[in-house]
Amino acid sequence: MADLGFDGKVAIITGAGGGLGRSHALDLARRGALIVVNDLGGASDGTGSSETAAQKVVDEIKAAGGEAVANYDSVATPEGGANIVKTAVDTFGSVHIIINNAGILRDTSFKNMTADQLNPVLDVHLRGAFHVTQPAWQLMRDQGYGRIVNTASGAGIFGNFGQTNYGAAKMGLVGFTRVLAVEGAKNNIKANAIAPVAHTRMTEDILGPLADKLGPEYITPVVTFLVHEDCPVSGEVYSMGGGHVARVFIGVTPGYTNVEDFTPETVRDHFDEIRSEAGYEVPANLNEELMLTVKALG
Ligand code: NAI
Repeated sequence: MADLGFDGKVAIITGAGGGLGRSHALDLARRGALIVVNDLGGASDGTGSSETAAQKVVDEIKAAGGEAVANYDSVATPEGGANIVKTAVDTFGSVHIIINNAGILRDTSFKNMTADQLNPVLDVHLRGAFHVTQPAWQLMRDQGYGRIVNTASGAGIFGNFGQTNYGAAKMGLVGFTRVLAVEGAKNNIKANAIAPVAHTRMTEDILGPLADKLGPEYITPVVTFLVHEDCPVSGEVYSMGGGHVARVFIGVTPGYTNVEDFTPETVRDHFDEIRSEAGYEVPANLNEELMLTVKALG
C-alpha cells in the first residue's frame, strides 16, 4: 500500500519544541503537512518561557525542505489557544489536524498537593486541549474534516503515585476525546487519544535502563496514522512505547440483575459476578452503555 501522505494538510502540534511533539512535527512535515510548531519553551514544571525551542524545530523542518511556522503562545489560556489557531489560519489558510501534546509535571503525593501544583497542570493539559481545539472546531465542521489526537497518559488511565493532578487532567482528556468523537462524527472529525511511554526530558529520571529503547520515534507512527485521512477509528485510546502499540478500552461486565430484591446484601453476595470480566462489552458511547442496561433488564 502507498505511504501515508499529508500534502497540503495543516497541522497544529502543541508543545512541539522538543520531545514527542517535535518528533510528530518532523514526521508530518516530511510527509507534506504544513506545520504550526507551538511551544512556550518553559521548563518541565511549566515555569519560564523562550522562543528558541519552537524556532529550532521550524528551522529543522525547513532545512529538510518542509513548511512550518513557529508559535510561542501558551495553551493554558483561551487567548493563547485562539492565537495558535489564528497562526495556522493566517499562515496556511486552515486547520485539519490538531495534536494536543503540550504538557508539564508538578508531581507530589495527594497529601501534599497544593493549588499551585493542581491548577497549572489542569490548565496546560486539560483546559489547554479545550483552548486550542475549540477555536478550530467550527472551521473543521464547516470544511467537513478534522483529525485530533489528545495526549493522555497511563498515569491517569491506570493510576500512578504522586500524580493526582496530572492523572485527573490526563483521564479528563479521555472523556474530552470521547465526547469530541460523538459530536464530530457527522462532520468527519475524528478524535483519538494516546497513552505514550517515551524517553524525553519529562521522563529523564524515571525510565532507568529502559530509556534508550523508548525513543519518541516509537510514538509518532501511531500518531501519524491516527491523524491521517485513512484513520478508521474515533473516540479510542492507544497505548504505545518502544515499538509496541495496543488499544486501551473501557469495558462493562455483564454484571448482575435482580429487579425484585436489589439490596446492599444482594449486591454484596453477587460482587464476584458483578466484577467478573468474562463476556465484557466495550460501548462506543453513552447510548450504547444505556442499551446494555436496558438489555439486561429484559
Ligand atoms: P516535553 O517536556 O519534552 O514536552 C512538552 C512540551 O510542552 C515542552 O516542549 C514544553 O515547553 C511544552 N509546553 C509546556 N507547557 C506549555 C504551554 N502552556 N503551552 C505550550 N507549550 C507548552 O515532554 P514529552 O514527554 O515530549 O511530553 C509530551 C506530552 O506527552 C505531554 O503532554 C506529556 O504529559 C505526555 N506524556 C509523555 C509521556 C512520556 O513517557 N514521555 C508519558 C505520558 C504522557
